[in-house]
Amino acid sequence: MRLLITVAKQAQRKSFHSSSCYRFTSEGSTLRKGPEYIEECKWLCGSSQNILSAVRGQVEVRQNFISEEEENALFKEVEKGLRKKRYEFDHWDDAIHGYRETERLQWGDVCESILRRVRAVAFPEGSPLLGPVHVLDLDKSGYIKPHIDSVKFCGSTIAGLSLLSDSVMRLVQENNSADWVDLLLNRRSLYILRDDARFKFTHEILKDEESLFSGQRIPRHRRISVICRNLPV
Ligand code: OGA
Ligand code: MN
Repeated sequence: MRLLITVAKQAQRKSFHSSSCYRFTSEGSTLRKGPEYIEECKWLCGSSQNILSAVRGQVEVRQNFISEEEENALFKEVEKGLRKKRYEFDHWDDAIHGYRETERLQWGDVCESILRRVRAVAFPEGSPLLGPVHVLDLDKSGYIKPHIDSVKFCGSTIAGLSLLSDSVMRLVQENNSADWVDLLLNRRSLYILRDDARFKFTHEILKDEESLFSGQRIPRHRRISVICRNLPV
């Protein structure tokens, strides 16, 4: 799996100030957005109204995509593969710190039907998918550094379920680090990154000490993600 991502070059990253975090507002942009969209986008904030508009349709977070029972079923099934492994902390060149991972091709009925729902909402119809589903277990002290998933091995869309903890995913435009958006990934939500949001922005999961969304602290506990990807065409 580590073939899939390599850490982004750490050009001097600006520090991020939550005070300069924009949310969608009805008067804030030339685009007219209905109240439903603003309501829907409580999980999105960013460095400007323009960048929020630019990623519109390419980032999506669906709150409560799975129930507590479904989260439990997934957790039970992925634990079997994870518990044999140890958390990795010391590979300085890894894109991920404090993690263990596995992948799974065959799932029990409950999990399979959850994954069918994920695929149905996330991927274009007929899009060939990467067979094994990637399972990533981040320790409480773990985090994911800015990176772009391999364009050689993965296609236009990345869809991930978050289990056990809320977290913040940050997207930073690769050729202009002043442009960024934060996504609030609540426990049991599904996030989807598509097209430019996937190819032209790095993504990362913030460490607990830096885990803020729109100025609000989002404690990061152990977090497991279940990630589906499609194949490049
Ligand atoms: C990855 C990644 C995000 C997540 O493994 O490439 O970006 O939700 N994971 O764990
Ligand atoms: Mn990634």
